[in-house]
Amino acid sequence: MMHRSALNLRMTSLLLLLVVLVMDTEAGMNILATKVDIMVGNEILLLCKAGGEGDITWQKDGEDITEDMAKVSMVDEASSKLVIEKAKMTDSGTYTCLCEFESGHADHTEKIIYVYEGPTFNGTSTYHEFLVGTTGRVPCLAAGQPAVEVHWFRDNQEISTNAGRRAHRLPDNTLLIKEVQREDAGTYECRAFIKGRPIQRTLPVSVVVNAGPTARLKEEIKKVVAGPEINVTFLCLVDGLPQPNITWTLPTKFDPSHHHYNSDKSELTIVSVARADYGEYICTTRNKISEDSATALLHVFEAPEVSLSAESKSVSVGEHVSVSCNVSGHPQPELHWLNKYNGQTLDSTSGRVRVVNGLLTIDEVVPSDGGLYSCMAVSITGNASRDVTIMTQPGPPQYLSISPGPTSVLFLLKTLPISGGAPITNYVLQWRRSVAEKWMETVTAPDLDPLAITSLRPYTLYSVRLAAMNKVGLGPFSDIKTVRTHGIREPDSPILSTDVVKQEGTSFSIPLKQSDDGGTPVQHFNLRYKQDKEGLEWKEMQLPSSSDSISLEGLSYGSNYQLEVTAVNANGSSTPTTFNFTVGPQPMTNRSMTKGAVVSIVMLIFLVIFLIVDASCCYINRCGLLMSIALKLFGQKVPGLRTLEDGEGNGEVKFKGVDTPRGSLQQTGVQTISKDGEQLREVTCDKAHLTKHEKSQPQNDQSNGNA
Ligand SMILES: *[C@@H]1O[C@H](CO)[C@@H](O)[C@H](O)[C@H]1NC(C)=O
Ligand SMILES: *[C@@H]1O[C@H](CO)[C@@H](O)[C@H](O)[C@H]1NC(C)=O
Ligand SMILES: *[C@@H]1O[C@H](CO)[C@@H](O)[C@H](O)[C@H]1NC(C)=O
Ligand SMILES: *[C@@H]1O[C@H](CO)[C@@H](O)[C@H](O)[C@H]1NC(C)=O
Ligand SMILES: *[C@@H]1O[C@H](CO)[C@@H](O)[C@H](O)[C@H]1NC(C)=O
Ligand SMILES: *[C@@H]1O[C@H](CO)[C@@H](O)[C@H](O)[C@H]1NC(C)=O
Ligand SMILES: *[C@@H]1O[C@H](CO)[C@@H](O)[C@H](O)[C@H]1NC(C)=O
Repeated sequence: MMHRSALNLRMTSLLLLLVVLVMDTEAGMNILATKVDIMVGNEILLLCKAGGEGDITWQKDGEDITEDMAKVSMVDEASSKLVIEKAKMTDSGTYTCLCEFESGHADHTEKIIYVYEGPTFNGTSTYHEFLVGTTGRVPCLAAGQPAVEVHWFRDNQEISTNAGRRAHRLPDNTLLIKEVQREDAGTYECRAFIKGRPIQRTLPVSVVVNAGPTARLKEEIKKVVAGPEINVTFLCLVDGLPQPNITWTLPTKFDPSHHHYNSDKSELTIVSVARADYGEYICTTRNKISEDSATALLHVFEAPEVSLSAESKSVSVGEHVSVSCNVSGHPQPELHWLNKYNGQTLDSTSGRVRVVNGLLTIDEVVPSDGGLYSCMAVSITGNASRDVTIMTQPGPPQYLSISPGPTSVLFLLKTLPISGGAPITNYVLQWRRSVAEKWMETVTAPDLDPLAITSLRPYTLYSVRLAAMNKVGLGPFSDIKTVRTHGIREPDSPILSTDVVKQEGTSFSIPLKQSDDGGTPVQHFNLRYKQDKEGLEWKEMQLPSSSDSISLEGLSYGSNYQLEVTAVNANGSSTPTTFNFTVGPQPMTNRSMTKGAVVSIVMLIFLVIFLIVDASCCYINRCGLLMSIALKLFGQKVPGLRTLEDGEGNGEVKFKGVDTPRGSLQQTGVQTISKDGEQLREVTCDKAHLTKHEKSQPQNDQSNGNA
């Protein structure tokens, strides 16, 4: 095969020469060569065209060519061929073709042939690895004859020999890369030239840059709150050539259900982060050069939680109550107790209301302690709280006003009583008429408006009070209020002072008093009495409202009587006041006296009184019967008629007094006195004798009248 192709080459070369020869016949001498640069061992073929018939000879470098140097043969009469089958380096030189034409004319022409060897890169490494930052040397061991020249290329750009450049060619043709960088990696070409000739060969050289691995965690500190929904991902940023492997060191044992990696393990995900996951996470990367690692810290917080010993507590006023609270979380949250009613933080560790180690204690509970309390856990991760209701009895109703109706009393609460922490379920309304009575009460719903005591008596004084009730119990009562109901009713029963009853013979006098008129004045008293014997009728009478005593006359000695008195006003009559009494037996003295004796005694007394009065009248005022007798005897004027009028007046008075045995007695008595006064003035025995004293007398009269 090789032979045939070489033969072909020679044949085509010859044909070419012939064509040239034919074309250049008129030109002078000419040496044709397939090429002038001949590699050692290859054939040198020269054809000399003389341009005419003659004797052609060859010379090299001015010396004749001998048989052992080359084969020379005639192609035709005008051309000669010189062949050196295996060129040697020494075959380089100037070849001259000499021709002595038949015409005797001689001429010559010459051609320089260059024989070369190479260039070769024998032993030149075509693969280099350098570490980033080091100095890379890439030799190019180019060899060749007569001499080689080396150039380095990258991307068809020649690398200069300028030592100032980071990558440059050294005089020994080594490519030098100072402080190798990643971008220096790639393919370089070493091109070797045969010096001065257009002969070159190229050797591609690979340069690989290695880098020790670096690991960097995107976040070096992560803070998360634990929770089933919370995933945490660590991203390890890895660098290095060749690509390094990644391994992780965890604070806990690897758990495929809890720890997930991505395909190149550069991402670690912790699913459903728990408090136990806190700690150091180390990402280690390793390649053939070295290894590196990075550490991240995972802080796992726990949301605060609050637990209470109770959700509600019921306590009686005056007792003590305590509720304990625990808070947990990470970091340990602060614990605060809060009174939700007033927003106050309870932070005192002593006193009636105190908090010690999360235990809220309230001594001597008062109604206002009732309410909602909250235990709060406060931490940077958030707050949590739980509430406890402390319940106690309600406080006393205060600021209440009451308004009476005819048969009711309404309570108006300007402010609701302190509830004690539990809604008020009822109100207890109490009333009584006197301290001696027991309290009556009614229980109402809390939303009843107005709160009312009903079915009371009209126009009656009541003491009332009110207390609130919740599910813990009944609170204290309000202050007692006294109120009189409106309206009118029948009066209270009259009061008889039976312990001061006066008996005079068959007359009885009992003091009478009316305490409460029922809202409208008492009109009169109805009175009835009867002897306590079968078949006897009640005697009835009416007393005016102003009466202050009951007088009964004409009673029978030694009898029992029943008496009933009622007071009457516009509304009706009171319930009767009853009184049973006994009239004592007739005294013995009275019984022995006869009627006639009584009459004569009375007449005697009358006569004596008449004589005394008449005598004093006559003596003082010269009047009266004795005076008239004396005047008849001594012949003097008689003024006696007036004395008779006096007597009539006195008779009337007496009659009236007997006729009205009851209260009106006093009134008539007063009338009597006033009448007497008037008449006393008229009764004067002799005005004429008194003329001297007339001026002073009216004053005396007036003073008498007043008395
Ligand atoms: C060059 O290559 C040849 C054959 O391939 C070998 O015999 C010779 O030792 C090499 N020379 C160098 C300098 O490597
Ligand atoms: C957490 O990871 C799990 C498993 O990969 C996934 O099912 C879930 O949706 C993730 N949760 C969140 C909040 O990303
Ligand atoms: C990288 O990991 C692969 C597979 O896990 C292993 O075969 C290889 O040896 C590792 N290389 C290094 C440098 O650790
Ligand atoms: C609070 O913690 C203490 C101690 O751990 C425990 O004895 C108590 O029962 C806890 N109280 C509540 C309300 O959880
Ligand atoms: C937690 O409570 C504190 C104090 O009570 C308050 O300042 C803070 O804003 C609260 N934080 C949250 C997240 O509610
Ligand atoms: C008496 O008073 C009551 C209550 O005010 C009323 O109901 C009644 O009709 C009155 N009776 C008379 C006779 O006025
Ligand atoms: C008065 O006497 C009557 C008849 O004997 C009797 O029914 C009544 O109870 C007595 N009343 C008092 C207050 O004693």
